[in-house]
Amino acid sequence: DSAVQETPTLAPPMISGAKPDTGHFEEFCLNPAPFLMRCHEECGEVSSFDLAGLKTTLLVGEEAHEAVYRAPDSQLSAAQAYQLMVPVFGQGIQYGAPPAIERQQLKIQAAGLRHDRMVLYAPIIAKEVREWIADWPDQGEDDFYERFTDLTLKTSTHCLMGADFRATMGDEFRGLYHDLEMSVDPAGLADPHKHGAMAERRDIARARLSELIGERVTKRKEALARGEEFHDMFQHYLDATYADGTALTDHEIAGMVVWFMFAGHHTSGNTSSWVLVELARHPELMAEIVAELDDLLGDSDDVTFQALREMPKMDAFLDEVLRLHAPLVTLTRRVMHDFHYKDYLIEAGGNVMVSPYVAHRLPELYEDPLVFNPKRTFPDGAFAYLPFGGGRHKCVGNAFALLQVKTIFAYLLRKFEFELSQPAEYYRDIMPSLILRPSDPCRLRFRRRVR
Ligand code: HEM
Repeated sequence: DSAVQETPTLAPPMISGAKPDTGHFEEFCLNPAPFLMRCHEECGEVSSFDLAGLKTTLLVGEEAHEAVYRAPDSQLSAAQAYQLMVPVFGQGIQYGAPPAIERQQLKIQAAGLRHDRMVLYAPIIAKEVREWIADWPDQGEDDFYERFTDLTLKTSTHCLMGADFRATMGDEFRGLYHDLEMSVDPAGLADPHKHGAMAERRDIARARLSELIGERVTKRKEALARGEEFHDMFQHYLDATYADGTALTDHEIAGMVVWFMFAGHHTSGNTSSWVLVELARHPELMAEIVAELDDLLGDSDDVTFQALREMPKMDAFLDEVLRLHAPLVTLTRRVMHDFHYKDYLIEAGGNVMVSPYVAHRLPELYEDPLVFNPKRTFPDGAFAYLPFGGGRHKCVGNAFALLQVKTIFAYLLRKFEFELSQPAEYYRDIMPSLILRPSDPCRLRFRRRVR
């Protein structure tokens, strides 16, 4: 009756296979992607599981995603779900800051990626890619996950910190960044002893990074005084102010840099690895994209910002890669107040999750969902295709990420052909860290094209 409908009381169904102490924690950590698929297969739209005492509810389908994305932060909190990142980015940055400050910082981040600034980043990325491939032999074989991770570290630091920093980027910066990354590595997190040691290294690395940024600020101010001009994100951070007119501190600038590196580096690198694997798996589609590039660019060795906007086949290919291999498998929120969805009551204190991985494999939204097919029709709804999330926390680096990956492949495919080193089934979605990637190692063969 209507009274029952107004007051949902059903607890979300718990999926099978919980262990007495840790619930589903081990299975989830092993690889969340197949685990979440199992949740949905077993229970449908709403399922719950136990992550070592933290009750988590997975919501699947356009309607359920919309309900999550429309809920205010005060009810479903991203900040509370992602507190793990606070010591990495630094106190007072993003979710380590009060919401009003966090929103202003996010605005500063987004303003740094406005269209007029993207035009400036395009040639920087292009320069990095050209230098990256300049000394490749005519043929060879390599682990392209490692290759792309290295390349996107270079492009990210170049765009974020500027040419001067990039030119002098040494082992110290790489080491510090690595220590920050290791502190959120799931294997380390699961072992309290290991985590203690990693947390210590993280804090030392984070403090040193603020010092390094402080030195960069001083150097940059000297260069500005000499009349030099800069258009990188670093300068954007130096020029930015909060609503009350105060500037960012060195600690905050370091935090903004680390935040963006974490959001953009592996997501773009891993996506690039999957793009290459899918291209090599589908030579006929690779040939179409190469033909598109050759038609568009002719004899020119330059890929302009304008040209990047005229690659419909490449765009469709990327959309399909991000459908099947969306790097973020889970988008999580902490339930701050009881959350009602249909007949279900999801109690405060637990987490809710939306999974692009599961969403993108729903047969009611995608025909033959497991088939890689860039020519498919994508559903119209705003909550069906979620590689970049949705709602108020939707990715602000979306356009930058696509610009970056397209630039990489526009140069790469003009110069080289690729083929898989292993049988096609070898390359699977694995998740040794927080971000999905292809099997390790991810080796492919390359050969210089004859044009
Ligand atoms: C947020 C995906 C690249 C900056 C997100 C979210 C997703 C996502 C799914 C939402 C997370 C959630 O709701 O919990 C991706 C993918 C990328 C990518 C698939 C590459 C293929 C980038 C890049 C940058 C960036 C290159 C920066 C240059 C951010 C930021 C947020 C975010 C700052 C947080 C927004 C907020 O807190 O409101 N991203 N991202 N991302 N992304 Fe990306």
